Amino acid sequence: MSAEATAPGKIILFGEHSVVYKGPAILLAVDRRATVIASKRDDKRIYIDSEDLGFSGYFEDGKYTSVTGKIWRGRNMAALDVAARKVMAYLGIESGVNLKVRSMIPIAVGLGSSAAVCVATTAAVGELFDGNLTNEKISELSYEGEKVIHGNPSGADNNIATYGGIMRYERGVGLKRLKLDVSLPFIIGNTRKKRSTRNMVEGVKALRDRNPEVVDPIIYTMASLSQAGLDALLRRETKKLGDLMNLNQGLLSALGVSTIELDELVYAARREGALGAKLTGAGGGGCMIALAESENLNKVEKSIRAARGHSMRVNITDEGVKTRKIKDEYS
Ligand code: MEV
Repeated sequence: MSAEATAPGKIILFGEHSVVYKGPAILLAVDRRATVIASKRDDKRIYIDSEDLGFSGYFEDGKYTSVTGKIWRGRNMAALDVAARKVMAYLGIESGVNLKVRSMIPIAVGLGSSAAVCVATTAAVGELFDGNLTNEKISELSYEGEKVIHGNPSGADNNIATYGGIMRYERGVGLKRLKLDVSLPFIIGNTRKKRSTRNMVEGVKALRDRNPEVVDPIIYTMASLSQAGLDALLRRETKKLGDLMNLNQGLLSALGVSTIELDELVYAARREGALGAKLTGAGGGGCMIALAESENLNKVEKSIRAARGHSMRVNITDEGVKTRKIKDEYS
């Protein structure tokens, strides 16, 4: 028997970067998912194979050996090794596993692909050994993998990939899932420029270390803006929601995480009537999101494409991590 788990990607509506320090992030799970199939091995290797992500190789005693000859994002590979081993250690099992990884979430552009893959790995390995892991445990163990990739992540991404839906997450406080019976017409614009969340978070930290008197008030403002954004969302005040997204973009720019490419897509969207547009995720490249009234959605999308962005419409999904047993993949 093998076990399969899938987990969703995400967009951050408010609170990226500030959530590392203070206040909430407002996150939405989207209907692009990562899937991991886990099966048992006779040796102690963690064998990771992913055509989509472009790597194949195994970890043994913490040492990685590439099978394809191509080392792709070593930290991402190590994160899956750590996540799988943490699950087995938690369950008191010593074994090796095969992990077959597939993802429909574009990589390294702020849509939560690494968290989705970590969460799916944790859940698949848990299911493989009949561990009955709760969502809380899946998120907690996945966070260990996330730390390998991102250094000091807030925990936002592994939580949204685990629980799905719409979420308020605050470090040290916890998460709250929100019910929203309104469809949110978001468009994602992807600059297609990959970047590392770890580097972006470290860049903000360095800026803050050098200028705490200026950066701390910006972070406090972002934290209260994030809470105001949540209130506007719950009251369906779309105009205000758009204002707050635009304000948030200004503050993210002040922290140095926007780029010319992101700004171009943000202004392209606003020019065609978007109520609000901002980067989403760590910035430095990656994606932006635009909120527009339904009659403007096509115009906004066209404008993003004309500005050399790749546009995507995604739906918000309530479905967090899902697991099931399947017939053997590796027999
Ligand atoms: C990355 O998706 C969001 C950041 O706030 C980092 C984090 O929360 O760990 C930039």
